Amino acid sequence: MPWTELKTRRWPAFDNDLDGISRETMEDHFKLYEGYAKKANECRGILKEFDYSEIEGNQVYSQLRAVSIDYTFALLGFKNHDLYFGHLGGDGGDPAGPFAELVEAEYPGGIEMWQQAIKKAASAARGWVMVGYDLNDGSIFNYIMDTQNLWAVYNMVPVLALDVYEHAYVRDYGATPDGRKQYVEAFFRNVDWDHVNRQLIQAQGAKEGADATQAQEQVSVGR
Ligand SMILES: [Fe+2]
Repeated sequence: MPWTELKTRRWPAFDNDLDGISRETMEDHFKLYEGYAKKANECRGILKEFDYSEIEGNQVYSQLRAVSIDYTFALLGFKNHDLYFGHLGGDGGDPAGPFAELVEAEYPGGIEMWQQAIKKAASAARGWVMVGYDLNDGSIFNYIMDTQNLWAVYNMVPVLALDVYEHAYVRDYGATPDGRKQYVEAFFRNVDWDHVNRQLIQAQGAKEGADATQAQEQVSVGR
């Protein structure tokens, strides 16, 4: 299927009052999301139009290198926010459903341990914490990302995206570590666990589909 232009979506979170995240923050944040979509489309368009028989491929600096790298920043800026806004506007509380079951199985201390872990990860990250489902082994993990695209891992499908860039909370809580912690508490009061579970079910379906192809490489396990 050929690439098509990215489009932002007006998720329900933009039309409902959130608990502890202001409408002003959400509207300013939407503009950033729009900007990432616009620039991702622009970069992808440029990359489709290059004359690859002539263009320079230089590792120090080249237009090809610059646009290719910035495309990943813009594209993940779009994707990260698409998930973030999509699962805001819920009733929050403790995780439920398949997500909760997976977390219980993954963490020795269960959901309470995972909640402590993601809150500490939110203080340790510079940009995002992505709770990702691994298509290779079916595990779940809190991935720290320092920018829109830095430390992203192959075959990890994000099912929950916690934006900890200052723009997500500075208006409501100030630019301090304590302000960020208050924002993270507010984030979890607004998570729509049904949306998270839909992401997870889709990711699990992708893994099951891949496994069902029986196209896996047949090699022995190394020492
Ligand atoms: Fe953001």
